[in-house]
Amino acid sequence: MNIRHIALATLSSFALLAQTAAAANPGQDARVIERGKYLTQIGGCNDCHTQGYPEAAGKIPATQWLTGSQVGFQGPWGTSYPTNLRLYMRDLSEAQWLIRARQPMLPPMPWFNLRDMNDKDLVAMYRFIRSLGPAGQAAPVAMGPGETVTTPYFEFVPKNLPMPAKHAQR
Ligand code: HEC
Repeated sequence: MNIRHIALATLSSFALLAQTAAAANPGQDARVIERGKYLTQIGGCNDCHTQGYPEAAGKIPATQWLTGSQVGFQGPWGTSYPTNLRLYMRDLSEAQWLIRARQPMLPPMPWFNLRDMNDKDLVAMYRFIRSLGPAGQAAPVAMGPGETVTTPYFEFVPKNLPMPAKHAQR
């Protein structure tokens, strides 16, 4: 084997390595997205962020998932609306997501559950939601306590609690 052969052999094994890496990545991506789908589903995100999901016992195609809700949740915090996460993720980088996912949000968003997820799981959910692509319309903006609300809404009023409920404010 002369030097030329060695150089060629080295080159072709690099090419092979590069090919293998390229082939492995789409598979890995698909696995990450699949994991994100699972986490989103069992994490209960559809329960609020997909209108009609609980009523349909989850029998709503993924193409309609996470497009937000025009039905508000009203309580001592005012009225909040589950964000259209398909549009939301489109405008957010992965790095921004890892910060936003750990900040307080209005009830009944269980933001503390997102806060306690590890980066890997948060990234998987982000990639899954991004993979669905943008769809639907934006949810209405949140209203403060006492503001007039014209959309349909659920009332979330604590009754007979030993102490007044405290909620995170944005
Ligand atoms: C019980 C209902 C409920 C569940 C369950 C829920 N959300 Fe939410 N989510 C909301 C509401 C309501 C808001 C709007 C809160 C606000 O205005 O601050 C919200 C806001 C958000 C936001 C903030 C978007 C923004 O505008 O900054 C993100 C991100 C989010 N939810 C992601 C998720 C994910 C991911 C899951 C599943 C792990 C989830 N939510 C589960 C009700 C819910």
